[in-house]
Amino acid sequence: MAIIVNEEKGIFALETQNSLYQMQIGKFGHLFHMYYGEKMVPQDLSYLLFDGQANFTPYPYESNNRSDSLDFLPQEYPTSGTGDLRSVALDIENEDGTHVVDLRFKTFELMSGKYRLESLPSFFAKADEKVETLKIILFDKISNIEVELYYGVFEDRDVITRASRITNLGTASITIRKAQSLTLDFHTGQFDLIHFHGKWTMERQFERLPIRHSTHSFGSNHGVSSNRQNPGFIIADKNTTETSGACYGFNLVYSGNFTATAEQSSLELSRITLGLGDSTFSWRLVTGEAFGTPEAILSYSSQGFERISQNFHDVIRQNLSRSKFTNTSRPVLINNWEATYFDFTGEKLLDIAQSATEIGVDLLVMDDGWFANRFDDNRSLGDWYVNEEKLGMPLKDFVHKINDLGLKFGLWIEPEMVSEESELYRAHPEWALNFPHRKPLMGRNQLVLDMSKPEVIEYLFDCLTSIFDQANIEYVKWDMNRPITDWFSKDLVNGRQGELQHRYILGLYDLLERLTSRYPNVCFERCASGGARFDLGMLYYQPQIWTSDNTDAINRLKIQYGMSFFYPISSMGAHVAVSPSHSNGRITTLKTRALTAAVGTFGYELDLTKMTNDEKAEALDYTKAYKAYQKLIFSGDYYRLENPFDTECSSWQIVSKDKSESLLTFVATNVTGYPPAFYLKAKGLDKSALYLVEGQEYYGSVLMNIGIKLPKLTGVYPSVQYYIKKSKRAGKKQL
Ligand code: GLA
Repeated sequence: MAIIVNEEKGIFALETQNSLYQMQIGKFGHLFHMYYGEKMVPQDLSYLLFDGQANFTPYPYESNNRSDSLDFLPQEYPTSGTGDLRSVALDIENEDGTHVVDLRFKTFELMSGKYRLESLPSFFAKADEKVETLKIILFDKISNIEVELYYGVFEDRDVITRASRITNLGTASITIRKAQSLTLDFHTGQFDLIHFHGKWTMERQFERLPIRHSTHSFGSNHGVSSNRQNPGFIIADKNTTETSGACYGFNLVYSGNFTATAEQSSLELSRITLGLGDSTFSWRLVTGEAFGTPEAILSYSSQGFERISQNFHDVIRQNLSRSKFTNTSRPVLINNWEATYFDFTGEKLLDIAQSATEIGVDLLVMDDGWFANRFDDNRSLGDWYVNEEKLGMPLKDFVHKINDLGLKFGLWIEPEMVSEESELYRAHPEWALNFPHRKPLMGRNQLVLDMSKPEVIEYLFDCLTSIFDQANIEYVKWDMNRPITDWFSKDLVNGRQGELQHRYILGLYDLLERLTSRYPNVCFERCASGGARFDLGMLYYQPQIWTSDNTDAINRLKIQYGMSFFYPISSMGAHVAVSPSHSNGRITTLKTRALTAAVGTFGYELDLTKMTNDEKAEALDYTKAYKAYQKLIFSGDYYRLENPFDTECSSWQIVSKDKSESLLTFVATNVTGYPPAFYLKAKGLDKSALYLVEGQEYYGSVLMNIGIKLPKLTGVYPSVQYYIKKSKRAGKKQL
C-alpha cells in the first residue's frame, strides 16, 4: 500500500519507493504537514509540532495555548484569516467582504488508480501501474466551503501529484482570490532555490539562490508560462550537488500565468507555494459551484539534482505526454524559417526539399508566410487560407510534390492570434482581447484572440480542420508569438474579469484536446517565440516543443542544460542552423551544431540548397547517426556531466535503461594552448561490465572513475561524441 492511514491518530502517510510524505490532523481539526523527504518508517511525528514560547501571535479561539498559533505550525493547505500570516494557498473573499476560510478536517477517501481533473491536463496511470489516490476533504462550517485535496501517489516513479477543488456549499456567493495547487512546509532546514529565468532567445538560465528570512516570489504574468521564468523549480539543501544531497523538484501542469514562492519564517520554518498566477486572478463561485486548481507534481531525491531530473523525465514520458509519438521515433525535419523567413515560393521550398532528401531528412515544415497576404509579420494572422499564388499551386498538390520526393509535410500555424490587418479582424474586432475605450497594446503587430469565447474556439476548430483535411499534413507547428496583456472580455460580467486568464487557458486546452484527438497521427510541435510556453500543460497534448529561437550551438548548451532539469530530451526541439549564426553571428563547425542538436528532436533550419556537396555528405552522416541513436536518446537516462555555467565546456550522457549502451557528448567552449590531458568521467554504467569505446575495451568502473581520455581539442568550439556499448565479452577478467 502506497497510502497508509491511521484513523485513530489522524495520520496520512504517502509512500513512494524512496520518499515519505506525511500529514496529521491537529487537535482542533487543522491538517498539518508533518514531513516530506527520505523514506522512513511512518510513525507519529507530532513531537515536531511547535510548542515553544509564542507571544503576540494569533491563535485559535478554542485554544488556551499560545503556541497553537497557525503561524508557527506547518500547514497542508494554509488559508487566509486563520492566523497563518505567511503566504497562503487559499484566499477567499466572502460576500460580506471578509477574507477568511477556516478549514477543518471532515473526511477522507482512498481510491486505487489516479484521480483525473475536469477540463485540465493531468498525469495518468498506465494499466497495471501501482498508483493510488488519497482525497482529504476539509470544511469551513461557517461559510460551508468545502475543499478537496487530491494526492496521486506514483510509487515506482517516486513522484506525488497534488490538486485541489473548492466547492461553495453555502448560500452566499464567494470570490476566490487565490487558489494554489501546492504548498509545502518544512519544520527545519536551510534551503537554496534553483529556478530557471530567461528571456527570448536565452530561455531556462540556471540560477541558485539561498532562501533566507524573506519571501522569494517568481512567476509569469505573460499569459503563457513564459521565457522569463518556468514553473519547474527545485529547492535543495545548501550542499546538494548534481549527484549528492537532498532536493525537491516541483512543477505545474499548466500553461498560463503562475506564481511560485519560497520563504523562510522568523522561526526558521520554510514554505514553498506553487499555483495559478494570483496578481489579478479571481473566480466567483455561486452556490453549488466548484473550482479546480491545476495539478502540481513533486519529487524528492536524496541523491542530488540528477535523480530529480530522471524522475521527471520518466514520469513525463510515461504518464503525461499522450501523443503516440512521445515514445516512438520522430521525423528528422527541415524547417524553412531561418532558410527563407517570409521570402519563399513553392518552388524554393521544393528545391530545399530536394536537397533535404540528400541528407536523410524525413519531413519538410513550411513555416510562417504560407497564408493570405502574410508577406511579413504585420498582417494576415487569422486568415487561415493558403496563398496559392505564392505556393504556385493548391496546398494538396504542393504536399503531393513533397511526398513524391519521399518527404512528409508539416505546417506552421499561430491560431490564437489575429492581425489588425486581416479579414478576420475586420469581421470580428470583438474577438480580440482589448481594454474598453483604449487602443490595444501591440506585440509583433498582432492581437490575441479571446480564447475564453466558445465561438472563437468553434471558429478555430473549423478553420484548422478544414486546412488539416485539405492535404496530407503529418506535422503541425503551433506557435504563439506575443505576451497577452489586454485582459478584458466582454462576456465576463458581474465581477468576473479576473477569471479571464484561466478561462483563456481552458479554451486553449479544449481546442487542443479536440484537435489532438481528431488527428492522433499528426505530430504536433509547440512553439511560443521559441520556448515561452515550455511546460507540462503543453506536453500533455504535444510531444515536443521548440526550445528556443536561438539556434547558436554554444548558447544552446546553456539553454538545453537548464531545460534538462525538468523536461525530457525527447521534448526539446533542436535544429542545425547556418554558421555564422543568425542569432549572434558566431561561427561554429557543422559537427558541433549537429552534436548539440542531436540532444533533442533533431532537424535542420537553414538553406540546404546552399550547402556544398561535402557539407551534405557530412550532414548525411549526422542524420544517420541521430536516427541510429534516437531510441536511446529518447528513452535513456540523462546525465549532466559538465555544467556550461561553471566550466568552459558542456557535456552530457544518455544511458539506456538496461545500461547496455550509452552516448556521451562533449563540447569545448574555450580552447587553450598547451592543455593538460582531460579525462571525461562517464556515469550510469554497469560497474563490472566491459564496454567498447572506439574499439577499446574498458570496465564500466574505469569509465566512471577515471574516464575517457579526450583527444587534444583545437579550433573553433570543438566537440566529440562517443558511443559506448557493452562488450560481448561482458564480465571477462582483463588481468
Ligand atoms: C516564432 C518562432 C519561429 C518562427 C517564427 C515565424 O518566432 O519561434 O520558429 O516560426 O515565429 O513567424
